[in-house]
Amino acid sequence: RAAKKQQQQTLESTVQAACDFYQQQLNHNQAALNYVQQQRGLSPEIIAHYGIGYAPDDWRALAQIAQPYPNTALLESGMVLDNEGKQYDRFRHRIMFPIRGVSGNVIGFGGRVLDDSKPKYLNSPDTPLFDKGKNLYGLYEARQAIKDVGRILVVEGYMDVVALAQFGIGYAVAALGTATTAEHIKLLFRHSDSVYFCFDGDGAGRKAAWRALENALPQLKDDKSLHFLFLPAEHDPDSFVRQHGAARFEEALLHQSKPFSAYFWDVLTENSDMTSQEGKAELVKHAAPLLRQITQAPTLLYLLKQKLSEITGIDPNNLAHLMGQAAPKRH
Ligand code: GTP
Ligand code: MN
Ligand code: MN
Ligand code: MN
Ligand code: MN
Repeated sequence: RAAKKQQQQTLESTVQAACDFYQQQLNHNQAALNYVQQQRGLSPEIIAHYGIGYAPDDWRALAQIAQPYPNTALLESGMVLDNEGKQYDRFRHRIMFPIRGVSGNVIGFGGRVLDDSKPKYLNSPDTPLFDKGKNLYGLYEARQAIKDVGRILVVEGYMDVVALAQFGIGYAVAALGTATTAEHIKLLFRHSDSVYFCFDGDGAGRKAAWRALENALPQLKDDKSLHFLFLPAEHDPDSFVRQHGAARFEEALLHQSKPFSAYFWDVLTENSDMTSQEGKAELVKHAAPLLRQITQAPTLLYLLKQKLSEITGIDPNNLAHLMGQAAPKRH
């Protein structure tokens, strides 16, 4: 166990050293500085606050921070890849976003290209330090703001978190290129009773919002709330806040977002004809397996069932029986 702890510490210090190195490199590369400051409009203060850096256009830049190259920690942290005995840096010529763990230590990175090449973002793999399904980008940086405003905002991208913070909305976090998991929801509710989602206004963003709702069902509590804000199709939070400002963004967040229940019924009723008996039967069939997953919010569950009864005109007692018959269905 002492050996394991030692290994963990070596891993941590290696990832931290890489983070420091990338931050230094940003100041030495005009193209990278130009990209973050001019093209993306990030201020020096926000760059420093989020520890944003630059991975040089070099196959073995990390030889400058760890010897021999590669050592075990570089390989285990996923910073260095091994292709049939040939080793090279994972992140090259990318803007680097360090991802911090609960105590502020760097546990991994997201790296963005400076142009339109693919893949646009590259993330650290899961490692003994880093589990994508259990960490959120920006949570460490957002802790104080979350306490101050009493809510937390989940967005899709690194740039959304950073841009919102620059505009004074410091309580945003992002899932790390994965769906919002049940673990994420638990973590979010540990930090605030009031969780807002604002994903991109495109189809992918809408899909991600519904996935987040599905994964949240088992975590719902009567004293916690979820809200969903849908932006115009051409926007993500970064572009919206830059075009319309923080006041309009927060106004929309607080007054135009849908509470969980409204979003739930909107989606479930939008594809079936609620004036027909077939449509109502379909609604019961789709709603039942979702409602069954709400095991920790009895009052909310009661109210949702009551609503289902109102929409369909089916007596609540019969509804319970009919819902028991409905087989689970994936959406
Ligand atoms: P910008 O173009 O820099 O504004 O990024 P964005 O965050 O708006 O990008 P987008 O809406 O396309 O994607 C949202 C998030 O999904 C990103 O922040 C990444 O975390 C993730 N993502 C996007 N593209 C990729 C990719 O090519 N690979 C991986 N692994 N994740 C991606
Ligand atoms: Mn998108
Ligand atoms: Mn986006
Ligand atoms: Mn964007
Ligand atoms: Mn607009």
